[in-house]
Amino acid sequence: MPRRSPIKYPARLPMVAASILSADFARMGEECRAILAAGADALHVDVMDGHFVPNLTMGPDMVRAVRRACPIAPIDVHLMVTDPAQYIDAFIQAGADHITFHVEVVQGVKVGELIARIRDAGATAGLAINPPTPVEAILPHVEAADLALVMSVNPGFSGQKFIPAVLDKVRAIADRLQPDQRLEMDGGLNPRNIGEALDAGCDLVVAASAIFGLPERDRPAAIRQLRGRDDPRVGGMTG
Ligand code: DX5
Ligand code: ZN
Repeated sequence: MPRRSPIKYPARLPMVAASILSADFARMGEECRAILAAGADALHVDVMDGHFVPNLTMGPDMVRAVRRACPIAPIDVHLMVTDPAQYIDAFIQAGADHITFHVEVVQGVKVGELIARIRDAGATAGLAINPPTPVEAILPHVEAADLALVMSVNPGFSGQKFIPAVLDKVRAIADRLQPDQRLEMDGGLNPRNIGEALDAGCDLVVAASAIFGLPERDRPAAIRQLRGRDDPRVGGMTG
């Protein structure tokens, strides 16, 4: 049963996905509701399997809990796992609207097959690429996906430093995207470097520490800044 496509609309206006990896896990429902009220467009869920990346985080049960707490929030699941095919149905059944998997673990015709499976299950599909992986690994497939995600840190942990060398990759991918596709960036983004990311073509900004690392009262301003100065919504919101 197809759901809405929150990740794709409205095209090209920068959106901010708050990565719950830096939220207070003991107060997760409350943290998610508050960050949406503070202006976040989506909740980004970082799934790590201790194999593709050297960390373990959360699974479908967390998505189910977040979905219960936030019934209409767009939930953007980022699978940093070696075998995404094994988990996509469980995440979508738990309430994910969008699933991104990595080109480092799925190649060739299997990329298209996995995208089709995600869509058939009612979600949108994204393809992610790590900083050391050449852009050529993703270019043949970007047309088939709903979004491309360029990692701007080596995945595994929040709070790492932005790697500016990935901006060339962002520009190369942005050149290939249609207006209804999004270009997501993830890792080390903050109000100081966001201008470079948006200029390069990013229109879906993931941030964990730059949002949840702040006191609650400062989070709405940080989210506005992460959308960029030229966004017509900047300055037009309260909080
Ligand atoms: C990193 C994750 C990111 C991370 C971002 O492996 O994919 O989503 O939570 O954290 P910050 O914004 O703190 O770099
Ligand atoms: Zn992520």
